[in-house]
Amino acid sequence: MTEHQKVHPVRDDFAANAWADKEKYQALYQQSVNDPEGFWAEQAKRLDWFKAPTKIKHTQFDTHNVDIRWFEDGVLNASVNCLDRHLETRGDQTAIIWEGDDPADSKHITYRELYEGTCRLANGFKELGVGKGDVVTLYMPMIPEAAMAMLACARIGAVHSVVFGGFSPDAVAQRVIGAKSKLIITADESVRGGKQVPLKDNVDAALTRAGTDVCEKVMVVKRTGGEIEWKEGRDVWYEDIVAKQSSDCPAEEMNAEDPLFILYTSGSTGAPKGLKHTTGGYLLHAALTHQYVFDYKDGEVYWCTADVGWVTGHSYIVYGPLANGGTTLMFEGVPSYPTHGRMGEIVDKHNVAILYTAPTAVRALMAHGDDVMASSQRDSLRLLGSVGEPINPEAWEWFYRVIGNSKCPIVDTWWQTETGGIMIAPLPGAVDLKPGSATLPFFGVMPALVDNEGNILEGATDGNLVILDSWPGQARSIWGDHDRFIQTYFSMYKGMYFTGDGCRRDEDGYYWITGRVDDVLNVSGHRMGTAEIESSLVAHEAVAEAAVVGFPHDIKGQGIYIYVTLGDGFEESDELKKELTQWVRKDIGPIASPDVIQWAPGLPKTRSGKIMRRILRKIAANECDGLGDTSTLADPSVVDELIEHRANR
Ligand code: WTA
Repeated sequence: MTEHQKVHPVRDDFAANAWADKEKYQALYQQSVNDPEGFWAEQAKRLDWFKAPTKIKHTQFDTHNVDIRWFEDGVLNASVNCLDRHLETRGDQTAIIWEGDDPADSKHITYRELYEGTCRLANGFKELGVGKGDVVTLYMPMIPEAAMAMLACARIGAVHSVVFGGFSPDAVAQRVIGAKSKLIITADESVRGGKQVPLKDNVDAALTRAGTDVCEKVMVVKRTGGEIEWKEGRDVWYEDIVAKQSSDCPAEEMNAEDPLFILYTSGSTGAPKGLKHTTGGYLLHAALTHQYVFDYKDGEVYWCTADVGWVTGHSYIVYGPLANGGTTLMFEGVPSYPTHGRMGEIVDKHNVAILYTAPTAVRALMAHGDDVMASSQRDSLRLLGSVGEPINPEAWEWFYRVIGNSKCPIVDTWWQTETGGIMIAPLPGAVDLKPGSATLPFFGVMPALVDNEGNILEGATDGNLVILDSWPGQARSIWGDHDRFIQTYFSMYKGMYFTGDGCRRDEDGYYWITGRVDDVLNVSGHRMGTAEIESSLVAHEAVAEAAVVGFPHDIKGQGIYIYVTLGDGFEESDELKKELTQWVRKDIGPIASPDVIQWAPGLPKTRSGKIMRRILRKIAANECDGLGDTSTLADPSVVDELIEHRANR
């Protein structure tokens, strides 16, 4: 057994008290794959339906007709499931604990308050002309109004499209146009790490670019009171609109397959795509996984450190925990402000029992040494979770030992925007942990590994990770482009959903995700398409050609390495590197900041003109000895030139 396969057996107290122990997990998993209809019909009862579904599963992955429907004759409303049904038993229980950027700012919002706020906002949306099927874009700070806005959309059958508050005006414009959004809700400014981000200004710039066909209205939450421009007739204050609304808003009856939200994410080619998630299956998957994977128990404070701009925030800050009547913590700031002890201090302040975060955050803390946690005890913690990228065993052990005081199991959860919820993860009362492995599939999930020709591989092996059959939380389509959906996910390996990830399965059947095998980067757990960054760069006048690859980065997991070929008449200079860095930041957002730029007089291309990224990745990783076969290159000498001037030594 290698060091990497150290095992942390299931703890006795978890086995005794968790929602599932070994036997129950095995039994439920077997039932879920052998009899999906029976299993999901039973599970669907955990939701409140206006009309319970009688048709459970209607799914096919046939490349000519990918058609995914779950509970297709069921009728429900997601906000009713997250709010109304809890009022009787837990109206006064805290639904959301909000922790502001400033450690002196926090508040508790009960289920009743969240319900009333959501209803008011839903009525406000209606007053502004938003109705069933309309798309509302959210470009918001991490404030409770963001969760309310999502739920208010759900209440009236509008479809929300949350755009991460760190994205640039261009990125907002692109997504607003793509979704034909009717209204955008934002704040004057957001506050992160003591700094203001001008959200409303960004929206103004985005809408100037997007034109007048979209977003007739801009709703603005007053977060800081900072100065903003105001466009009469278009802009409205959130506070003014909701103040006059009734706190009663009948919930729209939604078919299980009506869209709940769109969420844009990066792929290996082209512009970001809006994944479409529907109401019944998504909500069920989010709720069920939240209960079992986090072993969530009534009354516990649960904290997912993601932003609502990502799918993790959708499923595990808002929908999953609230559908389960949980208490979910929402943090406006960053883990390093005012000090690196903040995360632990928040755990102590609010008695957090379950902490779900990203490997990059763990590594960033780990880099400061064990003392970084000295300002907190974290005795309330019971379980830890990890998501977004592979967690290296060293970071896993540090997370376990230092943050979790060597007493909390870690659930490493593999999933994607496309999957809606967790797919591969240990249930803490059932599955022995191996640091670095996402372990075993959740109920209803049928993973498999295939070779490049699509042959299914058995036993302990490496391969491309595919899923053989549908699960309720699966994205149904790409908004407005079903062909692209089929092309992206179902054409590579016939009859299977292709994840884009590489994976190893060990002799115990455990899955070890090894990272993307396509041209998608994962930088600090943020997904980015190399093509997006390249197209941003080539739009700069100095750039003739650009190639972007990832390289191993101690904290971020992957860093962004850029090879730039300049156009005639442009000189290589450090100033130009800075300018290109700023260019990309402005065009996409700070998360796309290049880590390394290397001037490349030529790029390694095949005779047919295709850039050989494999070689660029090796050079970026400083693995110049194993470049493999370069004989098919049109001009092999460019490789020597790139190696000689590589920027990452
Ligand atoms: C990666 C985030 C290893 C993976 C929920 C996937 C992971 C992509 C893990 C999806 C994990 C996510 N271990 N890799 N536990 N979780 N990934 O859409 O490459 O932002 O394909 O969804 O993140 O990123 P997305």
